[in-house]
Amino acid sequence: MKVTVVGAGNVGATCADVLAYREVCNEVVLVDIKDGLSEGKSLDIFQKAPINLYDTKTVGSTNDYSMTSNSDVVVITSGLPRKPGMSRDDLIGTNAKIVTSVTENIIKYSPDCIIIIVSNPLDVMTYQAHLTSKFPRERIMGMAGILDTARFRAFISEELGVSTKDIQALLLGGHGDTMVPLPRYTTVSGIPVSELIAEERLNEIIERTKFGGGELVKLMGTSAWYAPGSAAAQMVEAIVKDQKRIFPVCIKLEGEYGIDDCYLGVPVVLGSKGIEKVIELNLDPDEHKLLEESRKHVKEVMSVLDNL
Ligand code: LAC
Repeated sequence: MKVTVVGAGNVGATCADVLAYREVCNEVVLVDIKDGLSEGKSLDIFQKAPINLYDTKTVGSTNDYSMTSNSDVVVITSGLPRKPGMSRDDLIGTNAKIVTSVTENIIKYSPDCIIIIVSNPLDVMTYQAHLTSKFPRERIMGMAGILDTARFRAFISEELGVSTKDIQALLLGGHGDTMVPLPRYTTVSGIPVSELIAEERLNEIIERTKFGGGELVKLMGTSAWYAPGSAAAQMVEAIVKDQKRIFPVCIKLEGEYGIDDCYLGVPVVLGSKGIEKVIELNLDPDEHKLLEESRKHVKEVMSVLDNL
């Protein structure tokens, strides 16, 4: 199995590193436009192999997409990250051009691959890559739900002083301030979270989750990478190993949840064919309302893209 990661910045390099040390695939190709960056980071990851004990081959390429030929999965992380004060949507003009040209190069050499978008604004960049690739929707998706639920799970575990491993959570909608964490579908080792955390406090945790990316941008002056890179690698692993894992993933909705022609995070089954099933939940009216707000927001940004 061969996986390409485009963009050797912090997120892309983290993703490549996780794929390598977890031996998710035989070969990881890291591509970047900056001379020597992907070669250097691939070499660094390779030199870690004798310490961390893995056999994954890591290769770097400065913009030579022929080296990505016949990749099974491609992760696109290219584009500018946020600076303090910016929303993800502010990146659209620059990142749309980058994602278009990267996608064109990728599909030339790997016409049958599965593409995972990580570039922001996530939902709309998934739309852009879908327009460019014309892939069936099962093979083109965006990573955000795993990251956003991971933040939610981390905060809940911290609140309760229990292992993050025992927190199961679910979240819908766009990767932005309108994301919809779902406490009704959140459990701690099977115990509904509402039995363990009072509503008011849970709402504070939900708010922190919604702005979780922004909290990190504020602290670091740029956006996060360890959790985003690891989340993308987890999606790759589910596909490459045909694990049939259930994750919230950004996909083009075609009638599910009563929504058509919009890119939003919903729970799906992820396996070797990509998105193998979209799971529809029985949302209550309040949850529906929140999802509708998220849909409206993403649709607005999609129309900004249409008018660029
Ligand atoms: C974040 C960026 C990757 O949420 O969107 O950290």
